[in-house]
Amino acid sequence: MHILSSGQILAAFLWASNAHASPDPSKPHDFDVLKYVNPLIGTINGGHAFAGASLPFGMAKSVADVNSKEERQGGFASDNSDITGFSHMHDSGTGGAASLGNFPIFAQTGCPGDEINNCKFTKVDRASRRINGSVEARPGYFAITLNTSIHTEMTVTNHTSLYRFTFPTNETSNATYPNQTTHALPLSPLILVDLSDLPDSRIKGSIAVDPTSGRITGNGTFTPSFGIGSYSSYFCADFSGAAIRDTGVWMNNRAGSEPKHLSVATDGVNSPPLPAGAWTQFHAPTSKNEILVRVGLSFISEAKACQNAELEIPDFGFDKTLQAAEDAWRSKLSVVNIDATGVSDDIQTVFWSGMYKSMISPQDYTGENKLWDSSEPYYDSYYCIWDSFRSVHPLLTIVDPTSQTRMIRSLIDIYRHEGKLPDCRMSFCKGLTQGGSNADIVLADSYLKNITEGVDWATGYEAVVSDAEDEPLNWSVEGRGGLHSWKNLHYIPTDDFDPYGFGPFTRSISRTVEYAYDDFCIAEMAKGMNKIADGEKYLERSEYWKNMYNPHQTSHIDGKDTNFVGFLQPKYLNGTWGYQDPILCSPLYNFTSCYLSPGGHETYEGSSWLYTFFVPQDMASLILTLGGPETFIKRLTYLHSYPDLLYLGDEQAFLPVFQYHYGGRPALSAVQAHTYIPSQFNNTFNGIPGNEDSGAMGSFSSLAMMGLWPVSGQDVYLITPPFFKEVNITNGQTGKTAVVRNINFDAEYENVFIQSATLDGAPYHKNWISHSFYSQGGVLELTLGTNESAWGTGHHDLPPSSSTSGVA
Ligand SMILES: *[C@@H]1O[C@H](CO)[C@@H](O)[C@H](O)[C@H]1NC(C)=O
Ligand SMILES: *[C@@H]1O[C@H](CO)[C@@H](O)[C@H](O)[C@H]1NC(C)=O
Ligand SMILES: *[C@@H]1O[C@H](CO)[C@@H](O)[C@H](O)[C@H]1NC(C)=O
Ligand SMILES: *[C@@H]1O[C@H](CO)[C@@H](O)[C@H](O)[C@H]1NC(C)=O
Ligand SMILES: *[C@@H]1O[C@H](CO)[C@@H](O)[C@H](O)[C@H]1NC(C)=O
Ligand SMILES: *[C@@H]1O[C@H](CO)[C@@H](O)[C@H](O)[C@H]1NC(C)=O
Ligand SMILES: *[C@@H]1O[C@H](CO)[C@@H](O)[C@H](O)[C@H]1NC(C)=O
Ligand SMILES: *[C@@H]1O[C@H](CO)[C@@H](O)[C@H](O)[C@H]1NC(C)=O
Ligand SMILES: *[C@@H]1O[C@H](CO)[C@@H](O)[C@H](O)[C@H]1NC(C)=O
Ligand SMILES: *[C@@H]1O[C@H](CO)[C@@H](O)[C@H](O)[C@H]1NC(C)=O
Ligand SMILES: *[C@@H]1O[C@H](CO)[C@@H](O)[C@H](O)[C@H]1NC(C)=O
Ligand SMILES: *[C@@H]1O[C@H](CO)[C@@H](O)[C@H](O)[C@H]1NC(C)=O
Repeated sequence: MHILSSGQILAAFLWASNAHASPDPSKPHDFDVLKYVNPLIGTINGGHAFAGASLPFGMAKSVADVNSKEERQGGFASDNSDITGFSHMHDSGTGGAASLGNFPIFAQTGCPGDEINNCKFTKVDRASRRINGSVEARPGYFAITLNTSIHTEMTVTNHTSLYRFTFPTNETSNATYPNQTTHALPLSPLILVDLSDLPDSRIKGSIAVDPTSGRITGNGTFTPSFGIGSYSSYFCADFSGAAIRDTGVWMNNRAGSEPKHLSVATDGVNSPPLPAGAWTQFHAPTSKNEILVRVGLSFISEAKACQNAELEIPDFGFDKTLQAAEDAWRSKLSVVNIDATGVSDDIQTVFWSGMYKSMISPQDYTGENKLWDSSEPYYDSYYCIWDSFRSVHPLLTIVDPTSQTRMIRSLIDIYRHEGKLPDCRMSFCKGLTQGGSNADIVLADSYLKNITEGVDWATGYEAVVSDAEDEPLNWSVEGRGGLHSWKNLHYIPTDDFDPYGFGPFTRSISRTVEYAYDDFCIAEMAKGMNKIADGEKYLERSEYWKNMYNPHQTSHIDGKDTNFVGFLQPKYLNGTWGYQDPILCSPLYNFTSCYLSPGGHETYEGSSWLYTFFVPQDMASLILTLGGPETFIKRLTYLHSYPDLLYLGDEQAFLPVFQYHYGGRPALSAVQAHTYIPSQFNNTFNGIPGNEDSGAMGSFSSLAMMGLWPVSGQDVYLITPPFFKEVNITNGQTGKTAVVRNINFDAEYENVFIQSATLDGAPYHKNWISHSFYSQGGVLELTLGTNESAWGTGHHDLPPSSSTSGVA
């Protein structure tokens, strides 16, 4: 075996230049975890992370919305684009269109010349520059000052956003007249509500303003950002802090105080839909130049929206609401304790921010579901499970099993009422399936990890079997396509004949390997439920990945043979091989040509080079297929080190960081984890390599830094040393604490090689551990050194594979 020394890998360790050690070895008594959360990570260059105020899994998510088409997906972006308003619901990190952002509000100090039509109404007219350096983002809070001289702060409860606008005094606020003369504005604030959403998808909407209270209520019907159908949403805005002066509605850039309501619908001509809304104008605020706006939200009715607001924030208490939000986050994060001795603030911030971002979505819409009556929890914004099954749900299972349990119950309830589990779902609509039916993996993962409380596993099993057996008519939004071929030919033919349903007839390679893994997960559940025949059937199907492996396929890059033979390749109905360059859809070659759109290829958002490693159920078999452990390790290292062959910004790249474990070289997994963190996951606006994807990126870095990588869908965690001296996780259901301790820890990360390990004092040789460590607690002690050792390298130390150990 080739032994690697730390000197050889040092170059791979990239450090943020401003990294500095925290002097206090133990947790300082004034430690506040919220100081280590930076919601602005991933708010530029396509990260699309939500940077605003939210509770854990909350429905209300308020932030300032930018007008940049490329960056507005999560509402705010840390670029130089203009702000068009503040809206109350968002999704985090979506790769598709902008999501939600319904009913934005916008405030003005007064209308020039005190003439209502001199105020700005449309998004285009009112777009305003931010004051550089004025943005403040932390858990439960977001603030920004615009060039209107108005400072806006926001915080939230579960279904209500609360805004505090601080207006300038007369002397400091100015407006420019069309003739370019600058005038001081009269202090008579106007706050408008816009009957629109971020993607301008409104189909219809209604709004009304109460002339006495100034309350504005309304509804709108919109389309989801990555799915089919439409959804309706409701709001209720109340004001506090100033006397009402006048009220009315607006359309385009005209406004009037009569009538007090309006309705709009798609007219077949105007696209985007006509700008329209309502407004309330105030006399000068009574104190501190502040006006508070409370926006209640609902998917049921305006009345429910008002009720949510009145129940959750009866007195407009901003500081109290903020305090409660901060406490909710502290409490969520309190189950994890780290000894951060020597570790820079930046690295700690990457860790805690990743944890925080993993608890933004899915969103708890329980009590807001109009589609069916049920006493089960209802979560939405599973956006998308293809992204989140790999690390978001496994992380939640460790740090918040109660929420994960509620999510599993909601997934099963969606199956009960919609007939299928979702692969993606947002705003009560079916979202687009990217590959397999990956909720099967989420369910199996939770099933194996004792997520049981109130879970109807019999129906859960029925749901995953339905994915495997019954092809839905429209398999672009649920279930799987090509099941006839899957059952009879044992692969998804590239030219499949599938008159039983419809969907995008692409991705035959990636669908084949994903269906195989999904079926393996079903086999595990079957085994656990003592359904022996089912278990055997799905275990057999889990081997079908082999049918798209062409053992003779070579790969050339820049005309040079990579010397690796055997790749997943297209295969036709007649059994002959097609050809897709193994590097196609890596950053090296037509990177973006493997999306869902027509003309896509046989692998989804990644290359055959990458997908050829996707056999999590049977890595032992894959390793033999690829020529044995030595070749496998070489190939995996080639994937990671050939420039631009692997893109870590898509979630399929996560598991290959740790797959060295299966080749008996767990040390190399640790090396790769340090290669990517912090070079690609760091404490900057640009600090994630791809779309945040509802916490996928954040959960990757946090899990990698905690040292036990979960192989989602299996009761297996691959052991690497944590990035901290010690990591403790207390299980919220059993109350037991799992301690992972590094002996010889050094914060320069030269000692990243495990020399030996003990579990509860007894020698531990296996390079993986099971979930009972987390649920039952224990102490895993890793002794580190500067050189790769024999620890975890033996045949009996390897993680399970179906061909060698059967189903876990
Ligand atoms: C504020 O920003 C907007 C958008 O860039 C611009 O049109 C407007 O003139 C600015 N207003 C002031 C007072 O600078
Ligand atoms: C704010 O910062 C951006 C760069 O992020 C710069 O382009 C812009 O000119 C700055 N605006 C002001 C008013 O200084
Ligand atoms: C918000 O919702 C969560 C469930 O998602 C719940 O645990 C929490 O208690 C709620 N907060 C309040 C203040 O009701
Ligand atoms: C606003 O206008 C007044 C009067 O013209 C002027 O004194 C003041 O400096 C201006 N303020 C700003 C912020 O431009
Ligand atoms: C600019 O327009 C304002 C408001 O219409 C008017 O009062 C003022 O006299 C105009 N100034 C000039 C220089 O034309
Ligand atoms: C602001 O100006 C308006 C008239 O333009 C005046 O009525 C009001 O008293 C002024 N407010 C302050 C705080 O100076
Ligand atoms: C929205 O409100 C209007 C006016 O009250 C009502 O006619 C309409 O049915 C509502 N739309 C929805 C989707 O609830
Ligand atoms: C982890 O738990 C152990 C055992 O309870 C305790 O001794 C240790 O101080 C904890 N470490 C941290 C970082 O909280
Ligand atoms: C599984 O979860 C249940 C309910 O949460 C609990 O009572 C039981 O002790 C757990 N079993 C294990 C093995 O963790
Ligand atoms: C098999 O089908 C493919 C795709 O239609 C076709 O290109 C190829 O010629 C066929 N091969 C044979 C042997 O029929
Ligand atoms: C790669 O992209 C180029 C330019 O869009 C296109 O002409 C070519 O057909 C693409 N190749 C493949 C295999 O899709
Ligand atoms: C931070 O991460 C981004 C995105 O992966 C990367 O482009 C950038 O180079 C990294 N910055 C540092 C200082 O490592």
